[in-house]
Amino acid sequence: TQPEADALVLFGATGDLAKRKLFPALYHLERTGVLNVPVIGVARSDWTDDGFREHARDAIVAAEAHADAAVIDPLKDRMDLIQGDYADQATWNELRDTLDRHGSKNAVYYMAIPPSMFPEVARRLASVGLNQRGRIVVEKPFGRDFASACELNQTLASVFPEERIFRIDHYLGKESVEDLLVFRFSNTLLEPVWNRRYVRSVQVTMSETIGVEGRGSFYDGVGAIRDVLQNHLLQVVALLAMEPPAGSDSQYLQDEKAKVLAAMQAIDPTEVVRGQYVGYRDEPGVETDSTVETYVAARLEIDSWRWAGVPWFVRVGKGLTEAATEAVIEFQPPPRLLFDEAGGPPPGRNLVRLRLGSQDGVTFTLQAKTPGPHLDSQDVDISVDFAAALGERSSAYERLLGDAIQGSNRRFARQDVVEETWRVVQPLLDEPGPVHPYFRGSWGPAEADRLLEDGDHWYMPS
Ligand code: BG6
Repeated sequence: TQPEADALVLFGATGDLAKRKLFPALYHLERTGVLNVPVIGVARSDWTDDGFREHARDAIVAAEAHADAAVIDPLKDRMDLIQGDYADQATWNELRDTLDRHGSKNAVYYMAIPPSMFPEVARRLASVGLNQRGRIVVEKPFGRDFASACELNQTLASVFPEERIFRIDHYLGKESVEDLLVFRFSNTLLEPVWNRRYVRSVQVTMSETIGVEGRGSFYDGVGAIRDVLQNHLLQVVALLAMEPPAGSDSQYLQDEKAKVLAAMQAIDPTEVVRGQYVGYRDEPGVETDSTVETYVAARLEIDSWRWAGVPWFVRVGKGLTEAATEAVIEFQPPPRLLFDEAGGPPPGRNLVRLRLGSQDGVTFTLQAKTPGPHLDSQDVDISVDFAAALGERSSAYERLLGDAIQGSNRRFARQDVVEETWRVVQPLLDEPGPVHPYFRGSWGPAEADRLLEDGDHWYMPS
């Protein structure tokens, strides 16, 4: 943990991420007293300070049904905009002078800008000595492949030490994703069966109903593998599969993630199905002959003592039937059927379903006796809805921005962890294979079924 920040510098302050996510998050942090520092926007747009403040207010009001002026006004009063070109040294001198005027010794530099600009901004910060006092927060996409991610890490490392580089993966800021640690390591009931002896397979689904929603030109250069499989999804798999960390310190958690990802085989391109929803090529900004995937399903293998031989099936996609993020742990069937005299169906599987999306919670699927003369079994669910049981939680961006201000990097991604995830997906980038069309509102291309074992199916989100 590092000292609390005394200023927040927002690069890309007039952009889309700031508008949709960051200003609403700042509002919540202001309300809870976490944000009590000057907020300095930096942008190329030719706006006045007042124009910038009004823009921030509008963004908050658009996101918050009952935005409180008593919270917005003091926040607005602490906001300033430095307008200038990033390539112009005067912009950087002005930023340093502004921070000096505020007496800032420890700022957060939040890069809400295209990743191609990270290296220049990092170097320019160093050119005015600002890398000596503060930390940077970078957003994904963090690189385009293994080589570029390593290169970007090296560039950033030449300017900031690792403990002052905060890499955002907003899934790590979700309460439901962080709950995976508590669920696994605070319930001793689970630990003895959370391994290859008892688990038959694991499925992780991240499905969205939306398409690319006006982000066509960005998305067409990225695709589902880089957009979510390499980051959000592999982070979730790492949390589900890792060993218990040695302690609560951030480095122990990162060590275990790095270890389990190092034990993950690079994905075999023959064990992958890519899909593209029909109509994607008509989206604004998308090439008319694009072969970029909006869906990908893959089989993963983790060669650790805990998981060797257990298949992990993962799928992510846009334009699907339902919006859900869910991990399903499927347990082995009983070793012997005792009660099949009636000739009924064999018992269903025990499942633990971890719902990580908006309806987060957990469901255990068990077997219970069907009423009647026979010893037949049927599925029964024991389910907890976290919002109902635990109350409302704060949003991922609010938590992560609060962490960056307070100096805690536990919920951010470490360099080696990010590089391992790129190593795992690299074969798919080298040999992407065909892309199969699917209709919007479906569960993606039927070809994805061939990844599973005979007779198995993808679990529908519960
Ligand atoms: C982003 C991706 O990182 O995550 C988007 O770029 C995706 O394409 C989004 O829609 C999903 O996040 P969430 O929190 O809505 O599941």
